[in-house]
Amino acid sequence: MFIVFEGIDGCGKSTQAKLLADWLQAQGKRVLLTAEPTKGRIGLFLREILAGKTIVDPRTLALLFTADRYEHLAREIEPALKRNTIVVSERYYHSTICYQAAQGVSWNWLVDLNKFARKPDYTFLLDVPPKQSVRRKTAVEIFEEEKFLEKVRDNYLKLNRNVIKVDGSKRPEKVFEEIKGRVKLK
Ligand code: TYD
Repeated sequence: MFIVFEGIDGCGKSTQAKLLADWLQAQGKRVLLTAEPTKGRIGLFLREILAGKTIVDPRTLALLFTADRYEHLAREIEPALKRNTIVVSERYYHSTICYQAAQGVSWNWLVDLNKFARKPDYTFLLDVPPKQSVRRKTAVEIFEEEKFLEKVRDNYLKLNRNVIKVDGSKRPEKVFEEIKGRVKLK
């Protein structure tokens, strides 16, 4: 089973991914808790770009995030799923579509680029107004800005197909109750 958490910066996805991973483990499941950008070489380069140290065209950025994802899938996600381990990932291709489209990259181009990627079994969108989410952040990365995150949020809300939208502005325990209630264990 492959579970993805999505949403704008500061939406609480790290908290929820951790709560879910712990709960699954308590049910006796093997779990891989992972995230994009990854800690691999491409992911580290992405962190440099996000910190504003290197500037690249938004299309290049989309290609780099997608290359990071290809490696993530091939080296970590697919092997874990083969071992019957539940994979919980913070961010996946929806991030590339919603963030890089907000930078002006063509939506269809981004969707096509990511067609290779396996579909998650569950995708939770933690929906939070940017006004609230930026308060949780220290704004050290290029996208942590309210106006930009408004565009990203609008893009996330366009995804509706196969995405479970959860109100992320509630207390973390409440949000988690809702998520837990949605996941059907085999
Ligand atoms: P984020 O999950 O916020 O990492 P952290 O909370 O540790 O800073 O991801 C970093 C940033 O990268 C975030 O602003 C979203 C952005 N991002 C994209 O623009 N496209 C992508 O494909 C991914 C995976 C992330």
